[in-house]
Formats: sequence, C-alpha cells, structure tokens
Amino acid sequence: MKTNSYYPLKFENDNLTFIDQTRLPLQENYITTDDYNRIAEAIERLEIRGAPLIGIAAAYACALAFKNKNYKDDDYFNKVYNRLASTRPTAVNLFYALKEIEKSYSQISDNDVYRTLLSTAHRIFADEENYSEKIAKNGLNIFLKKSNVLTHCNTGALAAAGFGTAFAVIKRAFENELINHVYVDETRPLLQGLRLTAFELEKNGIPFTVQTDSTAAVLMQEGKIDLVITGADRIALNGDSANKIGTYNLAILCNYHNIPFYIAAPSTTIDRTIATGSEIAIEYRSSRELLFIGGHQIGKDSYQCFCPAFDVTPAHLITGIITEEGVFPFPYNFIR
Ligand code: MRU
Repeated sequence: MKTNSYYPLKFENDNLTFIDQTRLPLQENYITTDDYNRIAEAIERLEIRGAPLIGIAAAYACALAFKNKNYKDDDYFNKVYNRLASTRPTAVNLFYALKEIEKSYSQISDNDVYRTLLSTAHRIFADEENYSEKIAKNGLNIFLKKSNVLTHCNTGALAAAGFGTAFAVIKRAFENELINHVYVDETRPLLQGLRLTAFELEKNGIPFTVQTDSTAAVLMQEGKIDLVITGADRIALNGDSANKIGTYNLAILCNYHNIPFYIAAPSTTIDRTIATGSEIAIEYRSSRELLFIGGHQIGKDSYQCFCPAFDVTPAHLITGIITEEGVFPFPYNFIR
C-alpha cells in the first residue's frame, strides 16, 4: 500500500514528532518533543489517541525519558512507567507496550538504557504496522458484495500504525472495489468520526457521508448499510469488546436490522487476563467535553453530565473479530 501524506507520529533525530489530533481536520500541526511528560499529556488530551497508537507513543516516551540519563535507575523507571500508565485506563495496548518496555528494561545489563528501550519501541511500532497490513488483508473475507459500510470513531493511520484497523479493512476493500460508500458516525462528544475519519477518508479518496450518531438507525432502516466495522480498545477472552461510546448502540441496531457487525483489532488489543467485559476499566472524561464544542460552551456548568469514553459490546452481538491472525466468528475463545 502507498504511504500517507500525513502521519500520526514519527521518531526522528532523537525526538518524537506527532500530529496534534485535536486540531484536525482544519489544521495539520506537528509537535516535536523529547519530554516523556509532554507525551503523557498528549495522550491525556487526545492529541495522540487510538488504542495501538497510545501504546506506541508510550513506548517512545519511556525510551526518551532515558535519553539524557542512559543508566539504570529503578525508581526513575517506575516513576516514568506509572506516569504513562495513568494517562488512559481502557485501551489495553498502552499496558501491553509498557510491559514490553519493562521487560526489556529488566533485561538490560549494560548502561545503554536509551538505545535498548528505543529499539523495543521501534519493534512495537513495526509489529503494529505488520498487524495492520494483515488485518486489512484478512478483512477482505467479510465482503460478500460491493458494500456500504458504516463506521464509528477513528481507526485509521491516526489511531494505529500503518493504515490502522477497521479503517485499513475499509481502505483495502475500497481498493478491491468492494466498497461503494462509507457512512461515518460523527462520534460525540469529541467527534473523532467527523474530524478524523472524514479527514482520512478524504485523503485516501474514499467516498463518504458523515451523520450524527443518532442517524445510524434510519440509515439501516432505509437499507443503506450492508455492514458495520469498528475498532476496539480492549477485548476480553470471551470476545466482549470495549470501544468508543456508541459502539454498543450500533451493535444492537445491527442485531435488530440483521446487519453484520465486525470488529477489527490487533491481537495486542486482546486482554488475556480478563474473562469478560465486566472487568474492563472504563474511562470517564470531563463534563467539559460534553458542555463545549470547539471551545464554545453550549451547556451550563451546573448541568450534571455522564461521560463514559467507551462502552462494552457483548460478544454475542459481534458477528466476527478480524485480527492479524484471521477472522474469528462468534463464539470467541482467545485463550492460547
Ligand atoms: O478516545 P479515543 O479516540 O482514543 O478512542 C479510540 C477508539 O475508540 C478506537 O475505535 C479504538 O482505539 C480502535 S483504534 C484502532
């Protein structure tokens, strides 16, 4: 596949450069830093976001924390690790990447901590790129005909390595003339669909329409949707899957309208320590994200708000989970 004209992050000249996703699609601003704490802040603010990308960024942040230190210091390592682990609770890729970094830190015998952690971060990035490519290829198997697809949130190059997860499937299917049109949920409250997925679809020349989240049912009722594909932030062993708030609604709608509902995610999104979705920690975000749109206040400060960033779709509502290893149909059993 061709590469994109934009990139989510790049490690260059001993710095991490990342696109500020909160400014997209109107401004393509890149920020360069070697400060691990600045990268942690970027993850918290969603300047860097999307499950696999959060993990990759956190791995680079750990390496950069040792750029000017370069010798083992366990207290300092734990401080950096805990800072990054505290940024966002739901996407398991963050914890997977941090554990990989911790493993390589614990195996270091010489003093070149920076280069060792950096090579682990590069390896995590390369693995995710490889998974994205395989997910795209495996995803072709779910298309029975040229289809109209609905997606939620953002799962493209801005959320992962390569061309992402669900987005990579959509892009590859479009290149294989298996996609007519993509319907994009705006994805309230932070509008990852309207701002980021629309941006990526436009850049890739894929025809799309954006609609409010509450329009999905009407599109299905009118027969406009052949299948729904989303990503995931954490998948339990039984297949229960956490993803952006509103994904569960879509799965229920698909079930009612007899439309296939697929999730695409790398194996690094499967949490092999939890049996069901009830064990997934859901992130709750500030009510400001609901009360303000684009810096403009639309609701009163006094309003009580309920702001989970993710929901959990029960496994039985998911037709299949596409990973780099293949397409797994329900019932799931990811124990290996
Ligand atoms: O809060 P976000 O924007 O980080 O949420 C992202 C999602 O929910 C994505 O769908 C998920 O991370 C899969 S990305 C490949």
